[in-house]
Amino acid sequence: MNTLRHLLIALVALVLVAALAFLYDKTQAVDLRERNDIAALLDTLREIDGRWDIDILRERTELDPNQLAAPNRTATARKALAGLSAAQQRSGSAALSEGLGELGKAILEKADLVEKFKSESAGAKTALHAVISGAAALGAQAGEPGKGNARQKEVQQALSQLVAAAQQHYWLGKAAAPLGLETAAGEVRELATGISKGARDQASAIDGAIHLLLRHKAVEQELFTKVSSLSSGPRLDKMTFSFNRELEATLQVKELFRVYLLAYAAALLIGVGYLGVRLKAANESLERRVVERTRELSEALRHLKESEAQLIQSEKMSSLGQMVAGVAHEINTPLAYVKNSLGTVSERLTQITAAIEHCEKLLELLRAGNVDSDALNRQFAQTSALLAQLKQQRVLTELGNLVKDGLYGTGEMAEIVGNLKDFSRLDRSKVTSFNLNDGLTSSLGLARHMLKSVKVTRQFGEIPPITCAPSQINQVFLNLITNAAQALGPTDGEITLTTLSDNGGVAVEITDNGKGIPPEVLPKIFDPFFTTKEIGKGTGLGLSISFKIVEQHGGRIKVASEPGKGTRFTVWLPLKPAAEAELAA
Ligand SMILES: Nc1ncnc2c1ncn2[C@@H]1O[C@H](COP(=O)(O)OP(=O)(O)OP(=O)(O)O)[C@@H](O)[C@H]1O
Ligand SMILES: [Mg+2]
Repeated sequence: MNTLRHLLIALVALVLVAALAFLYDKTQAVDLRERNDIAALLDTLREIDGRWDIDILRERTELDPNQLAAPNRTATARKALAGLSAAQQRSGSAALSEGLGELGKAILEKADLVEKFKSESAGAKTALHAVISGAAALGAQAGEPGKGNARQKEVQQALSQLVAAAQQHYWLGKAAAPLGLETAAGEVRELATGISKGARDQASAIDGAIHLLLRHKAVEQELFTKVSSLSSGPRLDKMTFSFNRELEATLQVKELFRVYLLAYAAALLIGVGYLGVRLKAANESLERRVVERTRELSEALRHLKESEAQLIQSEKMSSLGQMVAGVAHEINTPLAYVKNSLGTVSERLTQITAAIEHCEKLLELLRAGNVDSDALNRQFAQTSALLAQLKQQRVLTELGNLVKDGLYGTGEMAEIVGNLKDFSRLDRSKVTSFNLNDGLTSSLGLARHMLKSVKVTRQFGEIPPITCAPSQINQVFLNLITNAAQALGPTDGEITLTTLSDNGGVAVEITDNGKGIPPEVLPKIFDPFFTTKEIGKGTGLGLSISFKIVEQHGGRIKVASEPGKGTRFTVWLPLKPAAEAELAA
C-alpha cells in the first residue's frame, strides 16, 4: 500500500516537472540570428532582382560599347538561395519551405535570361556601332558633297538615312518598321556600286552589320519581354511577407506560453509552499513523537533493566531455594551428632551429678566427727562404687570427646552458614577486588550436598584478584557447578575446577565428565528459558543470566562439549572491567 502511494507521488512529481519542462521549452527564445540571416538573404535576393532590372535598363539605354559591363550576379543569387534552403532546413520554417522551390526556379531563370539579354544587347550595340562606323567610312570614300557632285550628295543622304534608321531600330525595335532600315540599306548598296569596289565592299559590310543588328535586337526584345513577365519579384515579396508573419505568430505563441509558464510556476510555487508548511508541521509533530517515543523507550529501558536485575535476583533466589534443601540436609548431619553428643553429655551429667552428691554426703559425715562408723562406711562404699563406675566408664574422656564432636559439628554448621551468607549477599552493586579461587571455594561449599559422590579436583593457579561484583561472579560459578553436577551420571562423576592467569585476565574452567551437550542443543543453551530439564527442575535461566553477568564484566563465556564424554565451560574475566560503572548500576 505504501509502495503504491510512493509510486503515485513519484508519478505526479514527474508529470509536474515534465509539464514545467514542456512550458519552459515552449518559451525558449526564437533564434533571432537565424531569422535575421534569413531576412538578410531574402533582402540580398530582392536587391539582386532589382539590380537585374536596372542592368537590363542600362543595357538598353546606354550605347557606349566600352562602358563597364554589369557584373554577373548569378553566383551571388545561387549562394543566397543555397543559404536560404539550409536555413529553412535548420529552422523548419513553413513560410520558406512553401515557396522556396518556385522562387529558386524563377530567380535562376531570370539570371539566365538577364545574362542572355546582356549578351544580345551587347551584340546589338556592336552591330549598331558597326553600321554607324561603316556608314562614316563609306561616306568618306564617296567624297565631300559640298563640291557640286550630286551623286556624292545622294550617297551622303542615303548614308544619313541609313544611320538614322539603324538608330531608330536600335531604340524602338520592331516598332520602328524594319523595312525602312532595309530600304535605306538597299539604297546605300545601290549607290555604292557606282562609286568603287571598296565602296561596294563597305556597303556589304554595312549590310552584314544591319543584319546582325536586326537579329540581336529581335532576340533582345524577346528576352526583355520574357524577363518582364517573370514573377521572381512578387514571389520574393510574398515570401518575405509570409516569413515575417510566421515570425510574428511564433513570437505570439511564445508570449502566450510565457504567460502559461508564469501561471504554472506561480501555481507550483504555491503548491510547494503549501507542502513546505505541511512538511514543517509534520516534521514538528514527528519531532514531538520522537521525543515522546524516546521518553517511552528510556522508560521501557529503565523497566527492562529493573526487570533484568529482578530476574537475576530471583534466579539467584531460585538457586538459593534449591540450595536451601541441600544446606538443610548438610546442617542436619552435624546438628544430629551435636544433638546426640549433647544427649549423651546430659546422661553422663546425671551420673556425675549423683557421684558428686555422694561425695558431698561423705564429706559432711567426715566433717561431723561423731558419725556412726557404719553409716560412714556405707557412704564411703557407695561413693567409691559410683566413682569407680565413672572411672570405669571413662565418662570424663567421653565427655571431652562429646564436647569436641559438638564443637566440630557447630563449626561445620557455622561454615555452611558462612558460605550461605557469602553467597546471598544482596549488596550486588558492591564492586570490589576479589580472588576467584575464593569464589570457587565458597560456591563449592554451597554445592557440597550435590557433590557427595563426585570427585572434585581443584587445580587452582596463582591468580591475581580481579575487580568484580563477587556475589554475581559466585552466582555464575554456582550455576556452572550445579549444571555440571546435574549432568553427571550416578557413579564416577568428576568435576575439575581450574583457574589460571590468561591474556590479561583470569580464566576459570569448570569441566565435567557428564553426558555432554548434543550439537543441535549447543547453540540454544544461553537462550533465556531454554532447558532440557524436567518441568519444575530447571528454569532455563542459569546460563543466560551467567552470560549476561560475564558480559557486563567485560568477559567471555565459552563452552566445549562432546556428547557422552563431558563438557567444559570456560569463563574469562578481565582484571578490571572496562565499564566498571555498568557493574555498579
Ligand atoms: N555441564 C553441562 N552438561 C550438560 N548439559 C548442560 C550443562 N550445562 C548446561 N547444560 C544444558 O544447558 C541447558 C540450560 O542450562 P541452564 O543452566 O541455563 O538452565 P537449566 O540448568 O536447565 O535450569 P536452571 O539453571 O534454571 O536450573 C540445560 O538444561 C542443559 O541441557
Ligand atoms: Mg542451570
